[in-house]
Amino acid sequence: MFRIFLAVMIPYALILSALLWRRPPVRRERKYERPASNGPLRVLVIGATGGTGREIVQQALAQGHQVTAFVRDPAKMQIEHANLRVAKGDVLDYATVESAMRGQDAVLSALGHKRFLYPNKIQSDGMRNILRAMTACEVPRLICETALGISNSIGRLGLPHTFFILPLILQFYMWDKLRQEELIRASDRDWVIVRPGVLTNGPARGQYRHGPEVGNYFWPVMISRADVADFMLKQLRDDTYLGMAPGLG
Ligand SMILES: NC(=O)c1ccc[n+]([C@@H]2O[C@H](COP(=O)([O-])OP(=O)(O)OC[C@H]3O[C@@H](n4cnc5c(N)ncnc54)[C@H](OP(=O)(O)O)[C@@H]3O)[C@@H](O)[C@H]2O)c1
Repeated sequence: MFRIFLAVMIPYALILSALLWRRPPVRRERKYERPASNGPLRVLVIGATGGTGREIVQQALAQGHQVTAFVRDPAKMQIEHANLRVAKGDVLDYATVESAMRGQDAVLSALGHKRFLYPNKIQSDGMRNILRAMTACEVPRLICETALGISNSIGRLGLPHTFFILPLILQFYMWDKLRQEELIRASDRDWVIVRPGVLTNGPARGQYRHGPEVGNYFWPVMISRADVADFMLKQLRDDTYLGMAPGLG
């Protein structure tokens, strides 16, 4: 029985991996001027009630930025701070996205969900609204968290992910993540796609690997959400990875 399972699963996983493969994005020069001063920025955090989103909000506030947390349920936002504004909305509702977008310098997205088991376009339709609102409100920069294991990082979350977790649980989710990445890649904003390995709730270590070669074809690489937030916030002013999709682990 197990042999039959493997005989079906392995070719299916290989075909799925081939279909989810894309050429690496090519680094781009910055298109839009940075805000004149090196002072605080006005940042919109999408997915602010999630694991990574909360870390981004906390660290951004600690760095002195003015933060707008975009949330579906304000009661879930348990951080209070003079520089924090909570904007209630849904990424699938364009009017709420545009309303939160006005006056921002950059967007940090840690959007995610747990509806893995059926096809949906939450991440890509949400990103379409975010990009449309960024253009309408002239917000120049997007830092978006996706994941290792798709596009040109296919296979880099390790064997268990490639041959079991992706085909059995995450296939619809990752298809939509790929669509989300493709929308970002086609956009005219200054963007960085950030692809972490498996996320943990551990503390920030401040030491992690980043770049196009991060990830491992045999076993999963891990990183804490706090370190992902740290890296994403650094991309607000750093042009090293503009138009690229570095892995993190
Ligand atoms: N888990 C992993 O090991 C792993 C590994 C690599 C990459 N990633 C990716 O990293 C990202 C962040 O993951 P996470 O686990 O830190 O996040 P998470 O806890 O799953 O949080 C997701 C956030 O997205 C928000 N959201 C969902 N649908 C929304 C909608 N329609 N409108 C507005 N907001 C919406 C959620 O709001 P609510 O609180 O209202 O639900 C929540 O704040 C995800 O894209 C995930 O796929 C995860």
